[in-house]
Amino acid sequence: MTRSPVSEKTVTVDLGEKSYPIYIGKNILPEFGVYVKRKVTGPKVLVVTNPTVNNLYGKVVADSLQRSGYEVSIGEVPDGESYKSLDSARLLYDIAFENNLDRSCAIIALGGGVIGDLAGFVAATYMRGIPFIQVPTTLLAQVDSSVGGKVAVNHPKGKNIIGAFYQPKMVFADTGTLSTLAQREVRGGMAEVIKYGIIWDPAFFNYLEESHTLIKEMDTGALIHIVETSCSIKARVVEQDETEQGIRAILNYGHTFGHALEALTGYKRYIHGEAVAIGMVTAADAAVKLEMLDSAVRERIEKVINLYELPVKSKKLSVDDVIESMGHDKKVKAGRVRYVLPEEIGQVNIVTDISYDILTEILTERLTGND
Ligand code: NAD
Ligand code: GLY
Repeated sequence: MTRSPVSEKTVTVDLGEKSYPIYIGKNILPEFGVYVKRKVTGPKVLVVTNPTVNNLYGKVVADSLQRSGYEVSIGEVPDGESYKSLDSARLLYDIAFENNLDRSCAIIALGGGVIGDLAGFVAATYMRGIPFIQVPTTLLAQVDSSVGGKVAVNHPKGKNIIGAFYQPKMVFADTGTLSTLAQREVRGGMAEVIKYGIIWDPAFFNYLEESHTLIKEMDTGALIHIVETSCSIKARVVEQDETEQGIRAILNYGHTFGHALEALTGYKRYIHGEAVAIGMVTAADAAVKLEMLDSAVRERIEKVINLYELPVKSKKLSVDDVIESMGHDKKVKAGRVRYVLPEEIGQVNIVTDISYDILTEILTERLTGND
């Protein structure tokens, strides 16, 4: 007997012929194969994952795909950002080739953003592109990295340097998988969720402010609501600017400062969301200094970030090192640093260059914590 599909919510990313659905629900993985059947005509799929996620969810995913008639191979890479590499891609090309995957088949990413970016990069390049499906299992991946088609591997000279825009055929987000995620990773994902409220949606920001207890308890309805709303906002932005020529840059709110903190601490001290949280407050500081933002709104941003137990101050670092590192950010255009700064809750603007004196003043304040 074929069970009926059970996804609770569907968000569509409308990109013409490249449009795709994001299915969101709790404990929907057993039905995954039924959904894949709508998108993948070939007989084989390669599930890319790591040992941590494979042990937890590999079997339920593989069983579901097999019930739907697919021949399933598993491509496992070790857990960790350092395996988002060309070496891992090469291993996965070998596995795809050995299993005779062709363009009618699919690559399925089962894991967090590391696996999603890596598997997407392999899907974009193997045989000049084969169908790709995202099964995100971290909050960050469910609300951000699985949506929008940025796929990449790292290069020794920088993160995400080798990549493409390559949209998945579908995203299948089971919020039940978040129950096994480390609390720190959940908090990190919340930074991106808060970001959406600040850049786009005042009502959503209010909700995050009011419902923090429910969300922190991982209430089913609350989790589905935040994943659905975040994906909808990201979808609306990506639909307008798939390849980041303009508005998509607003998704980088908090990231220019955040990336500098991550880089200067060797990607070890902060997980991405923690650095973004500090970056969002720092950007709000800058907006107040430039008289773009009311200081009461800045306080509110800091308060909500605090509510989710995310850091708002960085460990002590050299201000000049941070300023120099921001100049290396990928989003620098023609040598000028572009900052995404809030004007009010739900509205940001892109400001090119902030004076050295203002940057020094705000960073001196933010780089004094013990976090
Ligand atoms: P991650 O993929 O490293 O996952 C974090 C940890 O959680 C890992 O140890 C992983 O094995 C584990 N894990 C995953 N799911 C789990 C689960 N359900 N239960 C228990 N453990 C689980 O980290 P991440 O934060 O998901 O992703 C970070 C990556 O995403 C970075 O490489 C970043 O560059 C990328 N990223 C990409 C985009 C994009 O648009 N493509 C956006 C943001 C971030
Ligand atoms: N995470 C930023 C983007 O997808 O553009």
